[in-house]
Amino acid sequence: MKTQSATCKPASCQPLHAGQASRVLRLAMVCALSVPLAAIVTAGSAEAATAAGSAVPAMTTCIACHGAKGEGNSAAGYPRLAGLPADYIAAQLQSFAQGTRANSLMAPMAKALSDGQIIALAHDYSSLKPPVAAYGPMPAVAQAELGQRLAERGDWAAGIASCFRCHGPGGVGVAPSFPPLIGQSAGYIEAQIKAWKDGSRHNDPQDLMHTIALRLTDADTQAVAAWLAAQKPPASTPRHASAQRH
Ligand code: HEC
Ligand code: HEC
Repeated sequence: MKTQSATCKPASCQPLHAGQASRVLRLAMVCALSVPLAAIVTAGSAEAATAAGSAVPAMTTCIACHGAKGEGNSAAGYPRLAGLPADYIAAQLQSFAQGTRANSLMAPMAKALSDGQIIALAHDYSSLKPPVAAYGPMPAVAQAELGQRLAERGDWAAGIASCFRCHGPGGVGVAPSFPPLIGQSAGYIEAQIKAWKDGSRHNDPQDLMHTIALRLTDADTQAVAAWLAAQKPPASTPRHASAQRH
């Protein structure tokens, strides 16, 4: 397979790793099936715009909240995007557009993006270096111990699998589907778990996070979020290197 995906216009897309390219193709097919009719109708002109490099102006829209380097803004609850798996980012943008992940700030912006822009933005953010600083202070001992236990070992009596079982050792994420947990703020992590509990986020594959969220008490959620936010991300996440510019 060639390294340049057929769905990518040379002006807007970086060369892709062969595996990554086939995932993008698959993703593009899923997008084509799931986008509303209006989006398909306008896709022709939007693709032309993407080919002319409009993904870059689109990214300047995102910078206002997600930061110049995609580092996020923990005080405001805007998540980090840098270094997230490209497929995961694209899936979330689709979810905001479709309403399976409810957010009044992201919904209008995601709806305005073409499939081509979503793929280009997902790759641009995925290729940025993840943040290296911890997001928050280490919580008090009892809370830190509970948080660490849930993250590393889970709570089998309560039916909670360890977070790292899916999100990778150290919580660095496993592309394409499991986002990193470290490098996100405690407030954001807590808000997502609450969103799965109350159903405002119901986009996760096989209800994996919904099931876990329902089993986490408020104290569990606060402890695991605070402990995760206090972890220092590693300098690089080799798992996502396939999406990086070489
Ligand atoms: C006005 C502020 C704002 C702007 C501008 C903005 N976002 Fe967001 N974004 C948010 C907020 C708030 C969330 C968290 C939503 C939630 O809690 O579910 C978010 C979440 C996301 C997520 C989910 C991340 C994750 O870890 O699941 C993605 C992907 C994303 N934004 C992409 C973008 C892109 C691409 C742009 C530019 C086209 C953009 N955002 C512009 C506020 C913004
Ligand atoms: C069985 C697998 C599995 C386990 C165990 C798991 N997760 Fe997840 N988690 C997922 C998947 C899959 C997603 C992505 C959902 C989506 O595509 O929207 C996710 C997403 C998340 C997100 C959203 C991140 C973002 O950027 O928006 C948070 C926060 C999260 N998980 C926290 C946790 C915590 C805390 C634990 C441990 C208590 C945990 N997860 C355990 C599968 C798992």
